[in-house]
Amino acid sequence: MSIASAPLPSSDRADVAAQLREALLAADFTADGLLELLGAPAYTALARSETVPALRATRGDGPLETLVRLFLLQRSVPHARVAAVLPVGPLQESGWLSAADGEGALKATVDVRPYGGPSGEDWFIVSDLGCAVGGAGGIGSHDEGVVLGVGGASTTLAGLTVRTPVASALDLGTGSGIQALHAAQHATRVTATDLNPRALHITRLTLALSGAPEADLREGSLFEPVGDQAYDLIVSNPPFVISPGARLTYRDGGMGGDDLCRSLVQQAGERLNEGGYAHFLANWQHVEGEEWTERLRSWVPRGCDAWIVQREVQDITQYAELWLRDAGDHRTDPEEYAARYDAWLDEFETRKTRAVGFGWITLRKPAAGVGSAEPTVTVEEWPHPVEQPLGETVREFFARQDYLRAHDDAALLAGHFKLADEVVQEQVGLPGAEDPEHVVLRQHRGMRRATKVDTVGAGFAGVCDGTLSAGRILDAIAQLVGEDPVLLRDRTPAQIRLLVEQGFLVPVGS
Ligand SMILES: C[S@@+](CC[C@H](N)C(=O)[O-])C[C@H]1O[C@@H](n2cnc3c(N)ncnc32)[C@H](O)[C@@H]1O
Repeated sequence: MSIASAPLPSSDRADVAAQLREALLAADFTADGLLELLGAPAYTALARSETVPALRATRGDGPLETLVRLFLLQRSVPHARVAAVLPVGPLQESGWLSAADGEGALKATVDVRPYGGPSGEDWFIVSDLGCAVGGAGGIGSHDEGVVLGVGGASTTLAGLTVRTPVASALDLGTGSGIQALHAAQHATRVTATDLNPRALHITRLTLALSGAPEADLREGSLFEPVGDQAYDLIVSNPPFVISPGARLTYRDGGMGGDDLCRSLVQQAGERLNEGGYAHFLANWQHVEGEEWTERLRSWVPRGCDAWIVQREVQDITQYAELWLRDAGDHRTDPEEYAARYDAWLDEFETRKTRAVGFGWITLRKPAAGVGSAEPTVTVEEWPHPVEQPLGETVREFFARQDYLRAHDDAALLAGHFKLADEVVQEQVGLPGAEDPEHVVLRQHRGMRRATKVDTVGAGFAGVCDGTLSAGRILDAIAQLVGEDPVLLRDRTPAQIRLLVEQGFLVPVGS
């Protein structure tokens, strides 16, 4: 039987899920417990779908070893050992455990991965067997409907999401339910959708096993299951892979090129309440003769502000290889592999695609009275390391955009600013030179941006502690360097705007 059609545990037995949760916690089957048992190398090897180090670390017969072998490593474990840790009767009856080949052994029917919530919550993410970590290639399975667990993309999106309390949230393409689980912490009502009914079943298990409230689960494509309903928060880690055909539901959207991501973003605008955010991970084509930034701008729905960050670009060969490996195709017949690779490059050739960008798209529908007729759309490339979670950084980014929109240059000069926390100045130049060639301001938090400034900019930022207005600071600097204060007031607002936009300066009292 294929993995994607194997029977799943009953999702109607909340009592059994609660019993299982209790037993898992009692044995310290948590993210911290796992790290302590396995050690960092074996723990991180698991994330690369490498199980040998973890198998070696779980040769003992303690309760935690038993649970790791059952739920993460898909081993069969003798009945007596399982019974010492888990309520075997109810778990077998409701389908979490089944008899394994061999005398009196048991095995798990799904993967269960401990996952630490942002406030130290002990959660559990359920997924198909062999799919808790890594891609489908980890299980060597080509099952169309397999439901994966947590991947790098899942945690990136969870970290990016603005976590202010809201009434309603939508997780589109919920998979294992990880985004719905996060949303359940700060949204009164959570709706989770998926094209794959198996994913909805698994999401229900994830929520129950994590002790979270049930979500409104709806089957269907894109926004079809929710109609015109609007939400305060929309999140989606969609099947964004640009591929020559729909093969794996969790990653291949089945629409041409990057059409699925474009449709999602375009259709989200009218489904956002005022003040609401929509966060997407996406892939986009870099098409010959077209600026990728313009392609992305054209996706932004009317009336929404947007912040789009390209994190990585891969040429088409790297891209095809990445996803061929994800599906485990590199382990199949070499001719079949070559044919699939060829088909991928054919697809890109037809679409005149030269490279593929990967990144984050955030939309924000301005709250009533805050926005203007001209929304702000920022499209930028930032491939450097950032500090996750970034949700608060994202919220502040849009708040500063509101501030800048509402303040012309005169108002900006009358404003007061503070230097953001943990910004340092770096002077770059030849060793021994008296003056630096240029000065860089660098953030150690959030986006960890760096920006070049002139000496006035650096001096200005250094003085900003919120007490003097920007104009007064510039007048003092003008006196110090012997420059005309009127000219300085004239030329500096653009630099102040940039420093505010990028989060080096924070408007005081805004
Ligand atoms: C990359 S997985 C993301 C899973 C999960 N939300 C996460 O963050 O890890 C994409 C999910 O979208 C679902 N999906 C695929 N095509 C879809 C469509 N047209 N409409 C809605 N969901 C879809 C897949 O079944 C899969 O569960």
